[in-house]
Amino acid sequence: MSKPTIVTMPGDGIGKTVLPAAIEILDKVGFEANYVHADIGWDFWCKEANPFPDRTIELLREHKIGLFGAITSKPKSEAAKELIPELQGKGHSYYSPIVGMRQLFKLDLCIRPCRSFPGNPLNFIRRGPGGVIEEPEVDVVIFRQNTEGLYAGVEWTNPPDVVRNALSTHPKFKAFADVPGEELAVSTRIFTQGACNRIVGEAFKYAKKFGYKSVTICEKPNVIRETSGMMLQTGRRIQKEYPEIELWNTNIDAQMMWLTKNPEDYGVIVAGNMFGDIVSDGFAGLVGGLGFANSANVGQEVAVFEPTHGSAPKYEQLQPSIVNPIAMVLSAGMMLDHLGETEKAKAIRDVIGQVIAEGKVLTYDMLKIRGGPDALDKGATSTDQMTKAINERL
Ligand code: NAI
Ligand code: MG
Repeated sequence: MSKPTIVTMPGDGIGKTVLPAAIEILDKVGFEANYVHADIGWDFWCKEANPFPDRTIELLREHKIGLFGAITSKPKSEAAKELIPELQGKGHSYYSPIVGMRQLFKLDLCIRPCRSFPGNPLNFIRRGPGGVIEEPEVDVVIFRQNTEGLYAGVEWTNPPDVVRNALSTHPKFKAFADVPGEELAVSTRIFTQGACNRIVGEAFKYAKKFGYKSVTICEKPNVIRETSGMMLQTGRRIQKEYPEIELWNTNIDAQMMWLTKNPEDYGVIVAGNMFGDIVSDGFAGLVGGLGFANSANVGQEVAVFEPTHGSAPKYEQLQPSIVNPIAMVLSAGMMLDHLGETEKAKAIRDVIGQVIAEGKVLTYDMLKIRGGPDALDKGATSTDQMTKAINERL
């Protein structure tokens, strides 16, 4: 197989710190690739009025695999003020490059593994019978539909007449018939059968490949009958091809309530865009939070791997950096899985597991102290030291 070319997009803030750390580890594990840098983020908004320049789009189109750090987004008015003087007042309007990327390349699968590493002080613990403290092993992988549903952006305040008239054809819209337009906001929740087939189909494939015993459809079909119903029906149909994997069905609200009761029972979870966002943050919180939350955005052609966290501007200037590189490194591991380098991916996860189990190298978040210039004096390890600790054991 020829060497893949990876488009690296460090972006802003700590993205510039954690992405190089992940590449060091990819090198160490023997992954052979060419890396090509691509511009993305705030600097390019300020200098070019485009946070996701065409040259970056071209690189992704050509090479198909991206590793992304994080970007900084600011509210519209602030964004306009930070443009260089030549670009001000020309009607440029800021948009999030990562949301743009997901839409442009139809990255319709968002995959978010939430696995606890034994010994991580951030793991969820609960009280068991007789007051014993239990630390359940969580190994959940969320498949979130990434392009449709409530986040597709088909919405209005004061909808135009054609929309209002169309809505009026539904008997349940009678309840809103007298609401003045400017007092009416509508956000649509559109699901398509094709997207449901793909997210559920890929979830089952993943469950089979990695040995999970269940796929849970986490929606709300008893109330949101059409869209959630379509996802559940799709689950029932596709499960027939996988008799060895059970299909479970939970409602998002109950799932969040029971999140801490039996998180160890779940395997692969599928949800639409918004419920997937919610349930994945919920499970990520049980296994270490932002320093550990890794993700993949996968389309039919292009795939981009990124930590869930943002650019953490308050730590951008801290030297040495104190942020946890593990979320980024695990995201790079997901890229290896995607490229069929499953043994190298496993080696990285195993070594991270060792470092955590040894309990000697802990970034400030793992120590549960406030981040800041004095975190290292309080016993936290730096980003570099954590990266080294992983590298030395590989
Ligand atoms: P954030 O994820 O940057 O930070 C939230 C909190 O977690 C902060 O206290 C931060 O210091 C901490 N944190 C984040 N990553 C960490 C790591 N690897 N290790 C240790 N601690 C970590 O989110 P926030 O503060 O809401 O947003 C900051 C900027 O990032 C904003 O401009 C926002 O728009 C952007 N953002 C970008 C995302 C992306 O690139 N996909 C996702 C979320 C936010
Ligand atoms: Mg979220």
